[in-house]
Amino acid sequence: MKKIVVIGGSRGIGNAIVNLLVSENQVINISRNEPAEIHQNFTHYSCDILTDELPAIEAIDSLIYCPGSINLKPISRLKLEEFREDFEINVIGAVKAIQHFLPDLKNGKNPSIVLFSTVAAKLGMPFHASVAAAKSAVEGLTKSLGAELAPTIRVNAIAPTVTNTDLASKLLRNEKMIENITERHPLKKFLHPEEVAAMAHFLISDNALSISGQIFELDCGIVSFKI
Ligand SMILES: NC(=O)c1ccc[n+]([C@@H]2O[C@H](COP(=O)([O-])OP(=O)(O)OC[C@H]3O[C@@H](n4cnc5c(N)ncnc54)[C@H](OP(=O)(O)O)[C@@H]3O)[C@@H](O)[C@H]2O)c1
Repeated sequence: MKKIVVIGGSRGIGNAIVNLLVSENQVINISRNEPAEIHQNFTHYSCDILTDELPAIEAIDSLIYCPGSINLKPISRLKLEEFREDFEINVIGAVKAIQHFLPDLKNGKNPSIVLFSTVAAKLGMPFHASVAAAKSAVEGLTKSLGAELAPTIRVNAIAPTVTNTDLASKLLRNEKMIENITERHPLKKFLHPEEVAAMAHFLISDNALSISGQIFELDCGIVSFKI
């Protein structure tokens, strides 16, 4: 049984990760709201990653950092403060969690970290300047820390395309938008949080012991293919 800390397991992809892992692992969630599911392997701490002190947890095997943003606006309307906020939640929050739990990860078994990027870090898309900049920093962090923490701690990131969560609800708010998003992807689909959770599960597993410093595009073909 692994001890896994999920930051942001109350909703969305993080919650799908908690649900997938909790029956066979000890799962510790840190988010502002407490998720609904209660399981004997589950512990919750109510914390704002940006402002609160994080709990002490000993000997962690995996850290998965989920909080992020989708703030889509033309550059003329994106305030500098919004760039800072997006950088804070996507990058500084992840750095804070990694720095806080690093000694505990070093005491874990085959320890690993999973971060979240987006397809918009690789594929130039209008109105994505702020999130693309912040997530490109997450990808840089993944590469740099993968090298710095080798061979002890593996560090990888998942870069999903549109995933059906609260965060993406504005992009999927009616049938027409759902159809447009589906059609834009060469695989004629977008993601469900359970599919992204399955990749996180693989990356923290002992089947991925040779994988570090990698960014995994779960892109339904949108970055990889021009058909
Ligand atoms: N959904 C997509 O289409 C999509 C696409 C590309 C990339 N991504 C990336 O994938 C990751 C997960 O996305 P998602 O759609 O699952 O997001 P989500 O639905 O917004 O869920 C985010 C989770 O993070 C927690 N969180 C947010 N701010 C927090 C804070 N200040 N302190 C502690 N916890 C906080 C939330 O819990 P509380 O509100 O309870 O604190 C929630 O559990 C993000 O990094 C996102 O950028 C998502």
